[in-house]
Amino acid sequence: MNTQIVKIEKVEEHISDIRNAASIIKNGGLVVIPTETVYGLGGDGTNPQSSKKIYEAKGRPSDNPLIIHIAHSADAEKYAHTCELYYDLAKAFMPGPLTVILPKKDIIPKETTGGLDTVAVRCPSHPVAHAVIECAGVPISAPSANISGRPSATSAEYVVEDFYGRVDMIIDGGACEIGLESTIVMIKNDGEKKSLVLLRPGAITYDALCCVCEYVEISPTLEGTLKEDEHPLSPGMKYKHYAPSSPLVLLDGEDDAVLNFLISEQKSKNCAIICYDEETKYLEDKLLLPIGAKNDLRSHGKMIFARLRQCDRLSPEIIYAHLPDKSGLGLALYNRMIRAAAHTVLKIEKDDFMKGV
Ligand code: TXA
Ligand code: MG
Repeated sequence: MNTQIVKIEKVEEHISDIRNAASIIKNGGLVVIPTETVYGLGGDGTNPQSSKKIYEAKGRPSDNPLIIHIAHSADAEKYAHTCELYYDLAKAFMPGPLTVILPKKDIIPKETTGGLDTVAVRCPSHPVAHAVIECAGVPISAPSANISGRPSATSAEYVVEDFYGRVDMIIDGGACEIGLESTIVMIKNDGEKKSLVLLRPGAITYDALCCVCEYVEISPTLEGTLKEDEHPLSPGMKYKHYAPSSPLVLLDGEDDAVLNFLISEQKSKNCAIICYDEETKYLEDKLLLPIGAKNDLRSHGKMIFARLRQCDRLSPEIIYAHLPDKSGLGLALYNRMIRAAAHTVLKIEKDDFMKGV
């Protein structure tokens, strides 16, 4: 397949490209679009054939449902049964990195929802995504634009790596601002009491959700531990995710102890290190992948998937990274990293030398 690649910085200067993308989607084709979270592999969410094509291009099991992207939060009404809590969430967080699971209407085929009676709805804030959806006049179903099991793509370079020749068009909108996929919540109706279940943490944090809804439950599958016979509320949670090809080990310990460990590991192993900027001056400049200052979680979010993909290119013996703290945006980072590492966490104790300091 011939893949057209177009670079769009300002929507108003690329109206004909936007029209082109919209018409490919309306005609059943696939277009990769940039969003503020990660790139999305888009098709017409109302067309079962488009959804089938998405699963095929991504190599994704067809029981893992797609998110539909809408131009305005009120458009959810056309595709799903909404409620007051949906509009409270929309007012607080849309357009933006929040996905809400709602009971679906018939216009959304089961091919799009992986056979479920619910549909995931998201209204992205990225101007290019917004323009393509608006112009297409249909909801755009889009999973993250990565081959199933690989880290999500946060720049067009990685989209091209995975999808050149497999889709009709790739829109290069630069680096994604957030870099982590949207927060996913499901609305639960227990009679009078409306509550939310947090299925996937993202840039809309648990605390932010609690400001809008009194009862927010964290899904037990969020840390990626699921037994063979358990069915998660979000089918995607059961699949292995974001795994780099070399083993990834997360280090848990005090900063100085972890740094000492890394310094000594660099001497004996060909290891890649996903580290904080402050640490680079103490480490050899060899397979070093900084993700920003220690406290700059936004930067970690923005860079982590690119760093994991770079690890694949470097083929190190082992990859080390810090175990993220679970507070605020850290929960989203923790969720991605713990799954990428298949739960391999190494506890680093303060060594004997340090104890005396
Ligand atoms: O930021 C994002 O959400 C990106 C951009 C492109 O919008 N999309 C994205 O899609 O991350 P995807 O398909 O990679 O992840 C969506 C997750 C999957 O784990 C899927 O199982 C879950 O959402 N999901 C979708 N529909 C669902 C539904 N009806 N019920 C429960 N989980 C659902
Ligand atoms: Mg994904």
